[in-house]
Amino acid sequence: MRKTLTTLQTMRNKGEKIAMLTCYDASFATLLETQGVDVLLVGDSLGMVLQGHETTLPVTIEDMVYHTECVVRGSEQAFIIVDMPFGTSQASPRETFAYAAQLMAAGAQMVKIEGGTEMVETVHFLTSRGIPVCSHLGLTPQSVHQLGGYKVQGKGDVAAQKMLQDALALQQAGAGMVLMEAIPAALAAEVTAQLGVPTIGIGAGADCSGQVLVVYDILGIYPGKKARFVKDYMQGATSIAQAVANYVAEVKSGAFPAVENSF
Ligand code: KIV
Repeated sequence: MRKTLTTLQTMRNKGEKIAMLTCYDASFATLLETQGVDVLLVGDSLGMVLQGHETTLPVTIEDMVYHTECVVRGSEQAFIIVDMPFGTSQASPRETFAYAAQLMAAGAQMVKIEGGTEMVETVHFLTSRGIPVCSHLGLTPQSVHQLGGYKVQGKGDVAAQKMLQDALALQQAGAGMVLMEAIPAALAAEVTAQLGVPTIGIGAGADCSGQVLVVYDILGIYPGKKARFVKDYMQGATSIAQAVANYVAEVKSGAFPAVENSF
């Protein structure tokens, strides 16, 4: 039986860590859930790791629908979250709903939307009409040009306070999960302590309710230098399945992320 948002909320309430990985196709969907991955994120990172773009900006709603359908066909148990690609959530709440509905029809159980307080109206519009939303805070890759690069966010008291207020406002608007990318571990811990919904970290320290990484990164497939928050689980593993199982075990035990993977 497929996991639900209630399953994940119960895990968070019991202190059981949530293991999430990105996934873009049926074969990986089967392998990842067989190794115990709780949540498959059909991330718009596919624009970079599958399509070879420099950013996630060129990814279309058609791309996301196609890859969602592939992942759904390959899995039976994992909860499925799908990114709303650039340009589909930044307009009116009504237009956002229409795009999100396409992802839900393809098999998404929740959509992920980048942005803070400016997304409150949209998050409320969707969640009050039956579409669960995961809010994405911190380093939001669709805003890479506005941010001036892929940099750690939420540094300093003012930025940290704003992120905490954003998270609380999004939860109040109905967000059922908050993902935080590339922020100081202490800030992620504070947000996690103040929220009632699960938090997921990527470069956000060990105190989040769960962790996510790009699946290609944990398999050692990345161009150039490994990012600080990434751990290559192929090191010491004899198969992809074993590498994934080791990632899941370290997320569940709290061994990942270590201090060396955090900011
Ligand atoms: O698109 C993606 O893969 C993501 C993760 C990096 C969180 O949003």
